[in-house]
Amino acid sequence: MYSYKELGLVNTREMYAKAIDGKYAVPGYNFNNMEQLQAIITAGMETDSPLVLQVSKGARDYANQILLRHMARGAMEIVKEGGSNIPVALHLDHGDSYELCVSCIESGFSSVMIDGSALSFEENAALTKKVVDYAHQHDVTVEGELGVLAGIEDEVSHEKSHYTRPEEVEEFVTKTGVDSLAISIGTSHGAYKFKLEPGEEVPPLRFDILEEVEKRIPGFAIVLHGSSSVVPEYVDIINKYGGNLENAVGVPEEQLRRAARYAVCKINIDSDGRLAMTAKIRETLANKPAEFDPRKYLGPARDELIRMYRHKNENVVGSAGKA
Ligand code: G3H
Ligand code: 13P
Ligand code: ZN
Repeated sequence: MYSYKELGLVNTREMYAKAIDGKYAVPGYNFNNMEQLQAIITAGMETDSPLVLQVSKGARDYANQILLRHMARGAMEIVKEGGSNIPVALHLDHGDSYELCVSCIESGFSSVMIDGSALSFEENAALTKKVVDYAHQHDVTVEGELGVLAGIEDEVSHEKSHYTRPEEVEEFVTKTGVDSLAISIGTSHGAYKFKLEPGEEVPPLRFDILEEVEKRIPGFAIVLHGSSSVVPEYVDIINKYGGNLENAVGVPEEQLRRAARYAVCKINIDSDGRLAMTAKIRETLANKPAEFDPRKYLGPARDELIRMYRHKNENVVGSAGKA
C-alpha cells in the first residue's frame, strides 16, 4: 500500500471547496506520457494553479501503473524544488470497477472516479457507495457520475447522451456519500462533440439543468467531463500537414468560463492536449523531413502544450493564482 500523502499529493476536498467559493474550476488534465505530465506541471507552477492529474484505465494500461506512480512522485519533487506549493491530486478517470479503484488507491492515487453512469440508478448508487466506503478509509476522495455523455468513455462507447435528471442528484449524493458529481449538460468526449449544419452555431450548454442541480444540492462539487474546446488552430494545422479531422467541434471557451462560475469545480480536458501535441509533431516533421530525433519533435510539442495549459488555467477554467 502506497499512501498518496507520502508522494506529496492531496485529495480533492479542499481544492474543490475553494474553487466553488472562488467561482473558478480546477483543471482535470489527462496524461499518458512524460511530455504531457511535464507540460501540465510546468504550466501549473507558472500560473500558480491547483491541478488534478488524470489517469484513465487506458493510460494506466499504456504507461504501467508502477511507472505512473513514480512519475507522479517525480512531478511533486519538481514542484517542491521549483519553490512552488501548488496542490496536486492524482485521480483515476472513469474507473469502471470497484477493483480498479481499490488498486489505484493502493498504488498512491488521492482521488478516484467510479463511473457507473451506464448502469441503472440503483446499481450505480450501490457501486459508488462501495467505492466511497473503501476510499474514505484512506482519505481518498471519490467522483461519481449521473447522466450519460456521448462519445467514448474509456472504452465504453455511448452513441447518445442523456442529460442528468436533477430530481435524482440529491438521493444519489446522500445514498453514496460521494465527494463530487459529474453531470451531463451537453458536453461529450472526443473531438466531434456536435453535428452542425453549415453555418450553424454550437448549441449552448444546458445551464438550466446545472442551475436546477445546484438548487437541489447547494454548494456540492460538480464536475464537467468532455470539455475540450477542440481548438480550431490545432485542427487546421493537423489537416494542413496531412491529417484528416473533418467537422471536429468542441465546447466554446466562454461557455466553460461561465460554467466555472457555478458550482462546477473541475473541468476535464484531454482531447485538446492530444490535438496540440499531434499538430506540433505533424508540423515539425513536415517542415524538417530529415529529423529523426524524438526530442526534436516532442520538445516543440511539449512547448505548445505548456502554452495551451497556461491559457486554459488563466482564461478558461480560471484557476491561475488560486493555488
Ligand atoms: O474521458 C476519457 C478520456 O479522454 C480518456 O481517454 O480512455 O482514451 O485514455 P482514454
Ligand atoms: P475531452 O475529450 O473533451 O477532452 O474530455 C476529457 C474527459 O472528459 C476526460 O475524462
Ligand atoms: Zn470524461
